[in-house]
Amino acid sequence: MPHSPDLAARLRAATWSAHQAAAGDAFLKGLLRGERGVHYYARLASQHLVIYRALETAVAASGDGLAASLHDPALERVTAIEADLAALGGPVEPTPATVAYAQLLAGLAADPVRLAAHHYTRYLGDLSGGQHIGRALSRRFGATTTSFYRFAIDDLDAFKQQYRAKLDAAGLDSAAELALLDEAARAYAASHAVHASLADEAAMVA
Ligand code: HEM
Repeated sequence: MPHSPDLAARLRAATWSAHQAAAGDAFLKGLLRGERGVHYYARLASQHLVIYRALETAVAASGDGLAASLHDPALERVTAIEADLAALGGPVEPTPATVAYAQLLAGLAADPVRLAAHHYTRYLGDLSGGQHIGRALSRRFGATTTSFYRFAIDDLDAFKQQYRAKLDAAGLDSAAELALLDEAARAYAASHAVHASLADEAAMVA
């Protein structure tokens, strides 16, 4: 029966161990602890530009399926990232992991359920731990470089609750649900690969 009242809770539970690994990611931790300079933050923001361009283009092209139903223009990040990068001295080239992530997203424009898993992983993350990351980066590198982390949304918790309610009301059948959970694991893996590629670069330079 195509109804999943606790889909959002199960999505969170299914991805939480991947989440804990992501939150402990060496590159991100180093950046937040102040062990990496602004050059590394500019590298990260440059990856975000490529990833969010691909994500937002795919969502816009995905018709009226699950990804579009979860979407809200207030989530869109490309303009904010461009502003941050202007303050940081302009974008630099993406790593191969970022190019692969963007290609994965572009290929999902025709699969709104799998695309929704990426939508969830990026934007709910930005609205959650991203807020903590943004405040730390803002203290270190200045507010003009961290628009990415600021949303024109009054009540982030209420917004996240509505987002979860939309997931619960989506009425996915079990095959679609499995696809969503499967793709969320891929979304975390893709994000981790980007951070690992930046950590590798940092190790080469260090
Ligand atoms: C320093 C790094 C991070 C910290 C401290 C952190 C912290 C948190 C916290 C406290 C929550 C729960 C918020 C709530 O229940 O409202 C959360 C949720 C979330 N985070 Fe993170 N996070 C970090 C990194 C990441 C990364 C790198 C990703 C994605 C690649 C991510 C994706 C998510 C998602 C999707 C949720 C929503 C889970 C749900 O309620 O379904 N986080 N994060």
